[in-house]
Amino acid sequence: MDVAPPQELISATAIDARVKALGAQITADYAGKSLVLLCVLKGSFVFASDLARAIDLPLRIEFLGVRSYGDDTRSSGVVQITQDLTRPIAGDHVLIVEDIVDTGLTLSYLRELLLARGPASAKVCAFLHKPSRSIKPVEIDYLGFTVEDVFVIGYGLDYAERYRNLPYVGVLQT
Ligand code: IMP
Ligand code: MG
Repeated sequence: MDVAPPQELISATAIDARVKALGAQITADYAGKSLVLLCVLKGSFVFASDLARAIDLPLRIEFLGVRSYGDDTRSSGVVQITQDLTRPIAGDHVLIVEDIVDTGLTLSYLRELLLARGPASAKVCAFLHKPSRSIKPVEIDYLGFTVEDVFVIGYGLDYAERYRNLPYVGVLQT
């Protein structure tokens, strides 16, 4: 089946500049603290790897595998942990790195789960935010871009597990 190429919404150049700015801000805010970047798989693996290299601090990286039940384009808010952290986070300053906050259901669930493990702090860095679809408001401490209510792909984000490797953020053309 032939499909039209995705329409570019956020260019690789714009992403690069924004990620570097976020990295500089996080570097300043977490200086002298023990920082753990918590990459929420799979969607945030691209963002987290660029962000980590834009932060000039000693840090640890942990991966949390989650799958939200639902169809391809809608999250149900029921989150299954598919891979847990490899080390405790008690006493650490945890920065949850998310690909996109859509309804907010996934992130609010994750934040509660992580807070129960006694980190010194748990903040959120989201690459994208779709405020129009918010069901559960969550505080985003660091944000890349706000997007309209469209289904976006690329830079880690998938549609049915495809397009994660696009270097830009796009919209599927129908
Ligand atoms: P939430 O629980 O509705 O906030 O959704 C969180 C998850 O749904 C994200 O981490 C993504 O995996 C997925 N998601 C939501 N919106 C999009 C989108 O526009 N494109 C790709 N994935 C999305
Ligand atoms: Mg997904």
